[in-house]
Amino acid sequence: MAIPQGLLQGIDRLDPLPATAQRLMRALQDEEIGPARIAEYIEFDPAVVSTVLRVSNSAAYGGWQRVDSIRDAVVRLGAARLLDIVIGDYLRRLKVNAPLYDLAEDDLWLHSAAASLAVKALQKERPRAGIPETASIAALVHDIGKLVMVRFLKADVKQILARRDQRNIAFVEAERDLFGCDHAEVGAEMARRWGFPADITAAIEQHHSVPVTSPSPTVDAVVLANLAAKAVGTGLGAEAMDLRLDEEVGRRLKLGFADFSRVCIQTMTWLKELKTSYGMH
Ligand SMILES: [Fe+2]
Ligand SMILES: [Fe+2]
Repeated sequence: MAIPQGLLQGIDRLDPLPATAQRLMRALQDEEIGPARIAEYIEFDPAVVSTVLRVSNSAAYGGWQRVDSIRDAVVRLGAARLLDIVIGDYLRRLKVNAPLYDLAEDDLWLHSAAASLAVKALQKERPRAGIPETASIAALVHDIGKLVMVRFLKADVKQILARRDQRNIAFVEAERDLFGCDHAEVGAEMARRWGFPADITAAIEQHHSVPVTSPSPTVDAVVLANLAAKAVGTGLGAEAMDLRLDEEVGRRLKLGFADFSRVCIQTMTWLKELKTSYGMH
């Protein structure tokens, strides 16, 4: 489905990712860029330095060994996990109110952070499933399309809910029916314009697709991470648990109900820790 012109202009008007995140995103796709250069990108951005040092010491990011300098962090974490921290912090500071989805200030960030942690929990649960490190970045940005939808659509959540009930369809289908596209398609277009790696773009685009059209470990992990993030109570909003799911996703990752429950518990524990590292309760 084509994205309406007004939303495409909205994508161009939205502030792009911060410069540090853009450089790290390029580093992720260029093996020539080594740890020393990556450290340089970060060292000049004081806000990012303090966040990286604070968050990289928490358990979800591997932190039993203390990270005291940016060089340490780069060597220990690598570009993918650094990018995860940098983009996560960017989303946290955006503090977007999203009445179109009935999401309040911190909801979108908490949901994104929970999805990213859920991918890490999935990697721990299924270490041989081939879920790449970058999948947690994909989970972090899976709903970025909502940033454009809430800013550039003149619509009300009641319209989406009414359309959903009238046609007896899922929330995201009502979104598509009403606006001509949904936040997953808009998010993928943003990712393409910002030069994100192809597997991250695909995961954004397909996180609500039933069935998933081009499955990969990243896409599958993001679909399940979205569900886990909702199950732990983040980003529920007006959509709540009104999600359709391609059941092949769980089958491909060989994830039963008990395994998924463990992923949710781990996500919840790490999310609590992340909030504490930001002084939230
Ligand atoms: Fe979504
Ligand atoms: Fe989501």
